[in-house]
Amino acid sequence: MQSSDSVVGVGQPPAAIQSHSGQLSPFEWYAEMREKTPVCFDDQRETWDVFRFEDVNRVLRDHDAFTANRAFKDDTSSNDEDTGSILQTMITTDPPEHTRLRGFVDERFQPGTIREYQPRVENVTKRLLDDLEGNEAFDFVDEFAIPLPVIVIAELLGIPAERRDQFKAWSDALVARPEETTQAELQRIQQERQRAQQEMGRYFATLLAERQGSDGDDLITLIANAEDLSRGEKVGFCILLLLAGNITTTNLLTNAIWTLEEQEMTNAVRTGDVDREQTVEEVLRYRSPIQSLKRIAIKDVELNGRSIQTGDVVTLWLGAANRDPAIFDSPETFRSERKPNRHIAFGTGVHFCLGAHLARMEADVALKQLLARFDRLDADLSDLEPLNSLYGLESLPCEVHRNTLS
Ligand code: HEM
Repeated sequence: MQSSDSVVGVGQPPAAIQSHSGQLSPFEWYAEMREKTPVCFDDQRETWDVFRFEDVNRVLRDHDAFTANRAFKDDTSSNDEDTGSILQTMITTDPPEHTRLRGFVDERFQPGTIREYQPRVENVTKRLLDDLEGNEAFDFVDEFAIPLPVIVIAELLGIPAERRDQFKAWSDALVARPEETTQAELQRIQQERQRAQQEMGRYFATLLAERQGSDGDDLITLIANAEDLSRGEKVGFCILLLLAGNITTTNLLTNAIWTLEEQEMTNAVRTGDVDREQTVEEVLRYRSPIQSLKRIAIKDVELNGRSIQTGDVVTLWLGAANRDPAIFDSPETFRSERKPNRHIAFGTGVHFCLGAHLARMEADVALKQLLARFDRLDADLSDLEPLNSLYGLESLPCEVHRNTLS
């Protein structure tokens, strides 16, 4: 791993984090910062960095002092109603506006409703595994962890199966990061994003119009029939729901297999000697799919002895908070039996992840079926590449052995 010292000097984030390209092991840097400078300002990135659980938790819950409102300020925003500007969605609004928006879909993501979806997720998972039948090797990320969440959310939204490849392409373009930092590459990415958002927005606008007044149980129909939502808000809702759960759940699935293989625990989870649900929680803590969130101060405020001014950007390191020794015993150790496990991988406060129950259920179903289907996965952990700004892997080659008893 690159230590913070060798890259840019003590107290500075490793280069990979600075360039937002993610990195495999930021944990030594987190430990050093948590200990020495738990709240500090980085001149280069023009942001405060916050590392301790208590401070991260406080900022996420203090909606009077910190806003989520401009968290996406660098992303493409537009006034075009049909492109569903991301600024009009719940993730970047504060109460009471946030409460109003979340209220439209909250019930559909509660545990009881999610349990009703479970057979559909089981079917999707089974079909994906059937497609892998006969393969002796496959890339876990490309062939399982990426398609599963895309297909599941497309099903829940009620997107026709034949459009799903197109959705994958749009959602990739919307979260793509530049491969180099040249002006031309940044411009290309920006244009691709704008084009994808416009195309996707127009497509959702058509579906919403078609379904208004109908009585289907899909999310697009629910949103189409919502009174008191503008056309732009409706499109924004659809885009947010499609995007928010994709790479995050891909990373949870990948990080679960990566960690189980690394810790040589795959078999214990298969046999039930190790609890599956608790294992998923510990993966969320130990390798959190989202390592950081942003907020902006809307008043002058003191945080752990430092003075934060109105307008300052604050980066909250969930990955560091989730390994804070003040909260977790042996935080650098993966302990599947950890209970309670108070991780904040899904955030906290009013923006606590809407899809948390869905993501947990998907991970549980995926692990159960995958481990029943294959006796061994033999993941190749020799050459792991980090994936984009979130925390996961570019690929995870596995050599699988079919379980002949299943
Ligand atoms: C919010 C993580 C899966 C939809 C969030 C937040 C986090 C998060 C940290 C808080 C953002 C903030 O405070 O600024 C994750 C992780 C996932 C996951 C780690 C998978 C392992 C999903 C899924 C959906 C989803 C499957 C499906 C719809 C949302 C939405 C919000 C959100 C709509 C905004 C909620 C609000 O602002 O009230 N997620 N998420 N997420 N997530 Fe997830």
